[in-house]
Amino acid sequence: MSRTSEHSAKVQSYFDHRVADYDAFYDQPSAFWRWFNRTMRKAVYYRRDQTVTLAQKYGCRSVLDVGCGSGQNSVWFVRHGLERVLGLDISSEMVEESRGLAERAGVASRCEFRNGDFMSMDFSGKCDIACALGVFDYVLEPDPFLRRMAQHAEKVIYGSFPGWSLVRSPLRKLRYALRGCPTHFYRQAQVRALFESVGFGSVHVMPIPSGFLAWSVRDEVEDESA
Ligand SMILES: C[S@@+](CC[C@H](N)C(=O)[O-])C[C@H]1O[C@@H](n2cnc3c(N)ncnc32)[C@H](O)[C@@H]1O
Repeated sequence: MSRTSEHSAKVQSYFDHRVADYDAFYDQPSAFWRWFNRTMRKAVYYRRDQTVTLAQKYGCRSVLDVGCGSGQNSVWFVRHGLERVLGLDISSEMVEESRGLAERAGVASRCEFRNGDFMSMDFSGKCDIACALGVFDYVLEPDPFLRRMAQHAEKVIYGSFPGWSLVRSPLRKLRYALRGCPTHFYRQAQVRALFESVGFGSVHVMPIPSGFLAWSVRDEVEDESA
């Protein structure tokens, strides 16, 4: 097994076994935990809302949700102005959960979910905005990953990146490693260089408490929105 496919297999196995935990994060029945998540894990909601903000600003109607997880964001997107979403995830359990969620939410006709490793799966077509939220944390080679997102985006590419912190990062790395999942962290200059090297368009990097949100917009789309 190559280093890349070994890495992917670990990520897939980790998320296949954590669907319920992950989904509970968004769909928390307890008022206390809902409050806790919204207060202590603001970045998760902020990075999701920023997708809709960018879509509105740059006239995006379709979204490619790379690493869609349990589909909570995908469903949120079509409920908040996006017409269509294509969600992809390496975990088949996550994809099943996404399909069920979209059915229950009554938006299944506007959502498509497919299972596979984004880097090796076979699919064609483009969406207006391609996003990867909470995904670069688990990506071994971010350059080709972002490049592939760019190939499937008409207007905007957008991702979240966990920042490097002297105390939190090693602890998080260890916590995940003990469960067999590799994690990766980023510095601001690295995120900017990553987006610039793809050469998609203008680059924006926004520091947030947990790391960075970064996006790139095609020059003509940026000009039109000015
Ligand atoms: C932390 S979850 C984030 C889910 C969702 N984007 C959100 O913000 O709630 C990361 C997801 O990325 C998926 N993932 C990681 N690497 C992937 C890859 N190479 N191809 C497709 N999905 C991937 C995982 O299976 C997992 O469901």
